[in-house]
Amino acid sequence: MVKPQLPAHGGNLIQAARRWGIPRERWLDLSTGINPNGWPVPAIPPEIWQRLPEADDGLDEAVRIWTGVPDAAECIPLPGSQAVIQALPGLRTPGRVGVPHPGYQEHRHAWAEAGHQVRPLSREDMDQRETWLDELDVLVWIQPNNPTGQWVDRDRLLAWYQRLAARGGWLVVDEAFAEGLANVSLAPWAGRPGLVILKSLGKFYGLAGLRAGAALVDPAIGTTLRRVLGPWALSGPARYVMARAIADQGWRARMAERLQAESERLHTLLARFGLRPTGGTLLFQYVRHQQAGQLAEALAQEGILVRRFDRPPALRFGLPGNESDWRRLSDTLAKVIDRLITN
Ligand SMILES: Cc1ncc(COP(=O)(O)O)c(C=O)c1O
Repeated sequence: MVKPQLPAHGGNLIQAARRWGIPRERWLDLSTGINPNGWPVPAIPPEIWQRLPEADDGLDEAVRIWTGVPDAAECIPLPGSQAVIQALPGLRTPGRVGVPHPGYQEHRHAWAEAGHQVRPLSREDMDQRETWLDELDVLVWIQPNNPTGQWVDRDRLLAWYQRLAARGGWLVVDEAFAEGLANVSLAPWAGRPGLVILKSLGKFYGLAGLRAGAALVDPAIGTTLRRVLGPWALSGPARYVMARAIADQGWRARMAERLQAESERLHTLLARFGLRPTGGTLLFQYVRHQQAGQLAEALAQEGILVRRFDRPPALRFGLPGNESDWRRLSDTLAKVIDRLITN
């Protein structure tokens, strides 16, 4: 039997240490879009570890305030947006599903695994007239897209939603990288039939290991999703940390400003070495480059891990977390680019 190809991800430091023979602690890991200066997690009281999580602990309400959804929406805390990415395809009979390509591969994988027919949508598709929309039952859009950083404005997303919903279709908007950006989220429209919005604490909050996120959905999808997820999908410690992180408005505002400055700094740094990003978010920059593979390999030999893509050839750089990491990236790029040009 042919083994299905599982999507690849960044952040595999154990694998990198083995492959390049560099001890784990010597790596500068820029292969993910996770904030290296995440929300500072407080001590967790013993009873949070010991007792079963309680669904009416106020977390649903905290998500409601965080996202600003209208009353009609259901807010469902989840063990990462990944949990709903995997659950959603099972909630519909197999149909035709559009997913961005390049894009976070777990969407394509989950819909295909559940027997849906997946139509990859390229940047060129996005730029053309949207005839493809009429051939879809579900459209997944990642806003902004990972890894390309591509944007679609909200009016256009809402027009897509209306066309899909008129035929009983769904628009799934993955907002994993939208946190910290004003006037981007579709949360004010949450609760409309067939609009599914995914939130994550893994990126902006830097809490990828916590496995926490939320789905903002209409009541019908909400009921089914709660049934599929079962009673204790999100652990007590994850609920405790998530509730406090999303309520910390001061940290959120300061971090949004800081990440804006740092993403511009990363853009400028890469451009200085001829690696002009074609897109990016607050947390990463995306660089299309014919020699992406060689560059990733040369950086890895120096202990810097970046995410490499083959179709099209491209690199994704996450943010360095402190001044010495910024210097290391700059010095290493100087060395690697020089070597690549002279060879
Ligand atoms: C676009 C996007 N959506 C969702 C996820 C899943 O994140 P999580 O399950 O940590 O919320 C990722 C993880 O890399 C991602 O890049």
